Parts: sequence; C-alpha cells; structure tokens
Amino acid sequence: MQALRLFQGTNQLALLVVLLGISFSATVVSAAESASIKMGKQLYEENCIFCHQESGIGQVGVAPSLTNKELLSTATDKFLIETIRDGRDGTSMLAFNILGTSGVQAIVAYLRSYETLPNRAAEVDKQPDAFGDPRLGKQWYEQICSTCHGMAGEGYEAGGSGTAIGKSGFLSKASDGFIRETTKRGRSNTPMYGFQGPTAGLADLGDREIDDIIVYLRSLQTHLPTVE
Ligand code: HEC
Ligand code: HEC
Repeated sequence: MQALRLFQGTNQLALLVVLLGISFSATVVSAAESASIKMGKQLYEENCIFCHQESGIGQVGVAPSLTNKELLSTATDKFLIETIRDGRDGTSMLAFNILGTSGVQAIVAYLRSYETLPNRAAEVDKQPDAFGDPRLGKQWYEQICSTCHGMAGEGYEAGGSGTAIGKSGFLSKASDGFIRETTKRGRSNTPMYGFQGPTAGLADLGDREIDDIIVYLRSLQTHLPTVE
C-alpha cells in the first residue's frame, strides 16, 4: 500500500516536471518567434513599406497587399520566400537576396502575424495541375482578365490594377492550385474579386474555364521573351 502511494507520488512529480518543461519550452519558442517578427517588422519598414505600404495593405497599381487574408491562407512560405529573395523580373519587385535567408524568413514571420484565416497553403499547392484548352483560355483571359492584368499578363506596366500574372517572375513560383484558388475566391479589399460562386464579381466561371485560363497563362510563359 505504502509502496503504491510512493509510486503515485513519484508519478505526480514526474508529471509536474514534464508539464513545467512543456510550458518552459513553449515560452522559449514564442520568445524566439516574437523576436523574429520584430526583426521582420523592422526589415519590412526599411525595405518594403515604400511600395507595399503600412501594415502591408498595398497600393492599387503600385504593389499588391501582402497582409491580405486570402493571400496568406493560400501562399506557401516557399512562394513568399522565393518571391522576396528573387523578386519578379520585369516588374518593380526587385530581388532582396541581400537580406539573407534569416532576414527574408523574419519578414515572412512578420507577414504571417497578420494571418486570420486557416492556412490551406499545403493543400492548395498539392492540387492537380490544370488541364484545359489554351485557345479557350485566351478568349476568357482577354475578355475578363486583361483589363486589369494587361493583354499579355504584363501587369501594372499595362496601366491596370493587377499584377504581372503572365510573366515568369510570378508563373515560375506559383502552383496551378494557387492560381486556381486566387481566381475562384479573389482577394478581399482589392479589385481582385472572386470569379466563382454566389459572391463572384464580374463573371461566374466554371472549374473548366478557370483551368483553360491557367493553361493559357502557362503557355505565355514559354512564348514571351524572357529578356527584360
Ligand atoms: C519598388 C516597389 C517595391 C518594393 C520596394 C517592394 N516590392 Fe514587393 N512587389 C512590388 C510589385 C510591383 C509587386 C508585383 C509585381 C508583379 O506585377 O508581379 C510585388 C510583389 C510582391 C510579392 C508577391 C505578392 C503576391 O500577391 O503574390 C511579395 C511577397 C512581395 N512583393 C514582398 C516584398 C517584400 C517583403 C519587400 C521588401 C523586402 C518588397 N516586396 C519590396 C513592388 C515592390
Ligand atoms: C478588376 C480588376 C481585375 C480583374 C478583372 C482580374 N483581376 Fe486578378 N488581380 C487584380 C488585382 C488588383 C490583384 C492583386 C491584388 C492586390 O493588389 O493586392 C490580382 C491578383 C491576381 C492573382 C494573384 C497574382 C499574384 O501576384 O499573386 C491572380 C492569379 C489573378 N489575379 C488572376 C486573375 C484572373 C485569372 C482573372 C480573370 C478571370 C483576373 N485575375 C481578373 C485585379 C483584377
């Protein structure tokens, strides 16, 4: 009996030690995380705020929002890191490899601190590649998307509000799932409305039409001259 009580006592002690350990390491992790967010905020304010604005809200026709909730829930860290590190050729989004891996990661941690929707990036990235008809895609694109994104997807340069979705700087980093989800749901508080379902803005497109557009955009990547 006594042995059993002693055993229970030891067990509780062990449990207490384990619990203390867990809460200690949780504090250490969140302290490291908030240090990284703080560093990211500072780097953001030094390097990005001029175009992407305070709190990353963006500026129509100049730079997209980086704290938009749909963007953060569908973009992988890899997409964000590579975009910041390598920039987007032929746009004013320069390469920031000078900030180093830890600097770029800190900025991503800072941007992630604005995340409000569940993160679906991994699932979106794993979606199957688009399968469709580029000739039909060209028609949809020119009728619906080109007003904002430019006739050949050249973006702001064409005078519209949308980014350069026909250029390799975007296409080489974005998965078909990411393009598909963005086209379907859009991005709140920007001119990029969703193009599917009851909340669709300018047009309500089916899955097949959206895939046609993606296949068309991919064909632009190979036909557009890459020399900028
Ligand atoms: C001179 C203006 C300028 C500066 C400075 C700038 N950007 Fe950009 N950024 C842009 C433009 C323009 C685009 C869109 C390019 C296009 O048309 O594809 C962009 C796109 C992006 C995207 C892709 C967003 C999306 O919706 O897919 C990310 C991420 C990004 N910038 C992060 C940064 C970060 C982080 C910094 C600072 C280290 C920074 N940018 C500095 C102009 C700028
Ligand atoms: C009324 C203007 C408008 C129209 C029409 C429009 N877009 Fe956009 N789109 C935007 C804007 C603006 C953004 C960037 C959001 C921001 O500024 O934060 C964007 C962003 C995107 C992105 C993400 C690009 C990136 O840099 O991450 C994709 C993909 C996209 N649009 C696809 C489409 C497709 C496909 C169509 C046609 C079916 C379309 N858009 C029609 C304005 C438009």
